[in-house]
Amino acid sequence: MAPQRVLVTGAAGFIGNAFLRRLLAERPGVAAMTFDALTYAGHEENLADLPGAERHQFVRGDVAVAADVERALAGFQPDAVVHFAAETHVDRSILQPEPFLRTNILGTQVLLDACREAGIRLVCISTDEVYGSLAAPRRAAPDHPLAPSNVYAATKAAGDLLAQAAFRTHGQDVLVTRSTNNYGPRQMPEKLIPLMILRAHAGESLPVYGHGLQERDWLHVDDHSDGILAALERGQAGATYHFGGGQGRTNLAMVEALLAACGRDGARIEHVRDRPGHDQRYALDDGATREELGWTPVKALEEGLAETIAWYLGHADWCRAVAGDDLRAFLEANYGDR
Ligand code: NAD
Ligand code: DAU
Repeated sequence: MAPQRVLVTGAAGFIGNAFLRRLLAERPGVAAMTFDALTYAGHEENLADLPGAERHQFVRGDVAVAADVERALAGFQPDAVVHFAAETHVDRSILQPEPFLRTNILGTQVLLDACREAGIRLVCISTDEVYGSLAAPRRAAPDHPLAPSNVYAATKAAGDLLAQAAFRTHGQDVLVTRSTNNYGPRQMPEKLIPLMILRAHAGESLPVYGHGLQERDWLHVDDHSDGILAALERGQAGATYHFGGGQGRTNLAMVEALLAACGRDGARIEHVRDRPGHDQRYALDDGATREELGWTPVKALEEGLAETIAWYLGHADWCRAVAGDDLRAFLEANYGDR
């Protein structure tokens, strides 16, 4: 039977929040709890207008603190956990690695232990970055060797391996999902697409790292959420599932498209010093997942981008609320010497 009480870690952030909305809207019998530490990337604003809000509750807690996790599980009694909570920004991981080690590695182990003790399913949300850079036209299948290039990706790979170890050691009901780059509403404007939309609209320069010919494969966050829901409900314990957008673009092509769509006077592309260890290309082979879970992404990139631009430009209050002192300080440190 599909889970009826689902605890979602990190649902005050970007993808966890889109998944939570999908879950509450499409599964009217399901009750959900958001478990989130509200770091710089988590926002209570994202939990304000949920569909089926009467079936949702929020608890503030840290995945790396066992007592927080155990208290939430004991109080809510979920029959599954979907684990999104993470430190997620590559540039931040270069500047300050420690929170990445704590949340992405220790936090995943804490959840593995707590879910095993409670006898419930755990879905760990991971990323295509664990494979490192792939030369075209290669695509990584789930058994491709892991070769992460930066602290963020290495800590996500460690979390994945801990999940696989729990399955092999204890036969635990845990599975891993990996996806390509997501885009859509409520993504922190430290990441490429929302940052460029807001800067273009403000008539500011658009900082492209290096030559800008690196390629990312873009997947709409709602398509990703549908895949995760399928994995939660029908996935096999011990399996790794892949969700790709099949819509690779160079960063330069993406930024040019955003500039054309919403650039104001003064907005222009500026090539800045490259990200150290910058991966040239990510690409997933998701054929086995599509076949097993019956999942396929439906949102065309051009349509999804137009909707995403409209969302950011129509939500100035949200943008102001999330773009606080922390974001300004980080952007200054990140771009200061580029
Ligand atoms: P995000 O940075 O937007 O949100 C992360 C959320 O986790 C925030 O709400 C934050 O408050 C919370 N959090 C952080 N540390 C925590 C802790 N110690 N305890 C509890 N909560 C904590 O992240 P996102 O972009 O939505 O990514 C979600 C997941 O998907 C991550 O695991 C990420 O690795 C993975 N992923 C992201 C992408 C992408 O393109 N954004 C692609 C593939 C996989
Ligand atoms: O591939 C999945 C990953 O996608 C997720 O696991 C990460 O959590 C998520 O942050 C994202 O990582 P990227 O490093 O690909 O995303 P980011 O938005 O930081 O950058 C996308 C590309 O754009 C990357 O090649 C770097 C480049 N870039 C980024 C920024 C912020 C620029 O050229 N200029 C910028 O200002």
